[in-house]
Amino acid sequence: MKPLFIANWKQYVSVGRSAALARAIIADKNRGAATVILAPSFLAIADVVGAIKHARARNIFVAAQDCGFTDEGAYTGAVSPRELHKAGVSHVIIGHSERRANYAEDNQLLAKKVVTAREAGLKVIYCVGETKEERNEGRVAEVVRDQLRLVKKMVDIIAYEPRWAIGTGLSIAPHEAEQIHTIIAKEVGDRAQICYGGSVNEKNIRSFVTAANTDGVLVGSASTSSKSCAAMFKQLSVIARV
Ligand code: PGA
Repeated sequence: MKPLFIANWKQYVSVGRSAALARAIIADKNRGAATVILAPSFLAIADVVGAIKHARARNIFVAAQDCGFTDEGAYTGAVSPRELHKAGVSHVIIGHSERRANYAEDNQLLAKKVVTAREAGLKVIYCVGETKEERNEGRVAEVVRDQLRLVKKMVDIIAYEPRWAIGTGLSIAPHEAEQIHTIIAKEVGDRAQICYGGSVNEKNIRSFVTAANTDGVLVGSASTSSKSCAAMFKQLSVIARV
């Protein structure tokens, strides 16, 4: 199976730049080495979906970076999973550590989002991962299992993202990611795919993608330029040829 390449553009890529970046990725000659999922900001979703449709591109999908836990109602500011699905979104990232940390989203709330998103027809990319402190205390497996407890039968892709490795340039050693992926695989069986996220770039992408129990990567800052995406697709195409 082709590796998953999930591009999380966070709040980095403006609406103006999103369609151009999507077009560059769609046109990349090595893109076919991966199954690509682009996660633009909510405001850029329509343009990115439009760019994919216009190019009639295959094996490239659109994810929302988050969603509400209901489809409609008195929830100011929330975005309905059902409306996202209607807008051409196929996946949604739920439980990203930036949502957990900055918006106090806990496992109970995240489980509600997972249920609603699935009912709306979205595939769920669920993020788990420990803080540096939890790692130092030897609690990684416990933390990850706890984050998975309520949702493990309902998610399609699990992204293991050690919090301290996100946006810091400090990626974990691939063999350490592999250990956690193996723990996750024991929890979920073959119901879900498993990706690594946290400071993935053109230099380390191959070692993550080829690790055991690893189906792909979730890439943040390195996915926000067409040049570094091209460099990463090139690396993936080398694996595809081997
Ligand atoms: P990063 O972000 O690649 O910039 O570390 C990954 C993520 O947050 O998903």
